[in-house]
Amino acid sequence: MKPIIVSGIKPSGKLHLGNYLGMVKKSIELQSSGKYDCHYFIADYHALTQKYKPEEKAADIFELAVDLLALGIDPERSVFFMQSDILEHANLAWLFDCITTAGQLQGMIEFKEKVQEGQPASVGLLNYPVLMAADILAYKAAFVPVGEDQRQHLELTRDVARTFNKRFGETFLEPKGIFVEGLRIKSLDIPEKKMSKSLPKGCLYLTDSAEAMKKKVRSAVTDSGTEVVYDPVNKPALANLILIYSEMTGRTANDIVAEHKDSGYAKFKDAMAVAVSSSLIEFREKRADIAAHPKKVRDVVNIGAEKARIIAAKTLKEVKEKMGLI
Ligand code: TRP
Repeated sequence: MKPIIVSGIKPSGKLHLGNYLGMVKKSIELQSSGKYDCHYFIADYHALTQKYKPEEKAADIFELAVDLLALGIDPERSVFFMQSDILEHANLAWLFDCITTAGQLQGMIEFKEKVQEGQPASVGLLNYPVLMAADILAYKAAFVPVGEDQRQHLELTRDVARTFNKRFGETFLEPKGIFVEGLRIKSLDIPEKKMSKSLPKGCLYLTDSAEAMKKKVRSAVTDSGTEVVYDPVNKPALANLILIYSEMTGRTANDIVAEHKDSGYAKFKDAMAVAVSSSLIEFREKRADIAAHPKKVRDVVNIGAEKARIIAAKTLKEVKEKMGLI
């Protein structure tokens, strides 16, 4: 049996290059390696912990499913589904609640940050990491590809697995994170900050037109000097552009720099925008095709749910029995 991988992606608006070049690209690579049994889902339940409009959320969920399919999550090779379709996740979360303390959850960085930002401290927001543990342990995952920001939540999953095993008998692996290291795509206009939709001028969306990309890249900040060199310490803004260029085209930074050394920033930026945009042509075509058939998207996740449910139901049954439910 191949090692099991589980990962969830929260629907929170259009995907940008920072999202894609983080966990999404990694997840697709892990799928393509053929070495793992991958389970990828849209974490729609996790997307309800902050204020939102139902119709916007429904659109976000659909768009994310379309994006992921167009990017290469392949439902023939990975189990691809919607979290809320598998009732066992929330059910397992309750059972894990009973072996988790409020103190563990109140200490989570993300919870504290969100509350500080003024989000209501809902029980859902507090309980978020336990549902995540349920998502992962339902499939007895060995590995979990996630962003750095999820490290503490994954640690909680490992705590839950350990506590469960100790109290009720050896059942779960303690899943290991596959952290997408080093690849932090920055905002084009504020290179000290991560690329994010809250900084729209510096954010390149996968669905941006070639023109829109060119415009944003042209107004990206650059560092002083004129020479195109890859120097993340002294020229972080330029290094960010080179990194995006390299990651999207598969060319090495050295190769890109060698070609553009004497181009000057303006010419380099245009070339970069064209290359990045061109690398997404196939994605855009696939995306348009998939988005035109919403029913097919539903069918795809339904098939995934059928596969996922079999495994999650088996785990839930085992957990209930071990916890003394008859
Ligand atoms: N909390 C994760 C995030 O915000 C999304 C997520 C939910 C997840 N359940 C998961 C990731 C299970 C990995 C495994 O990115």
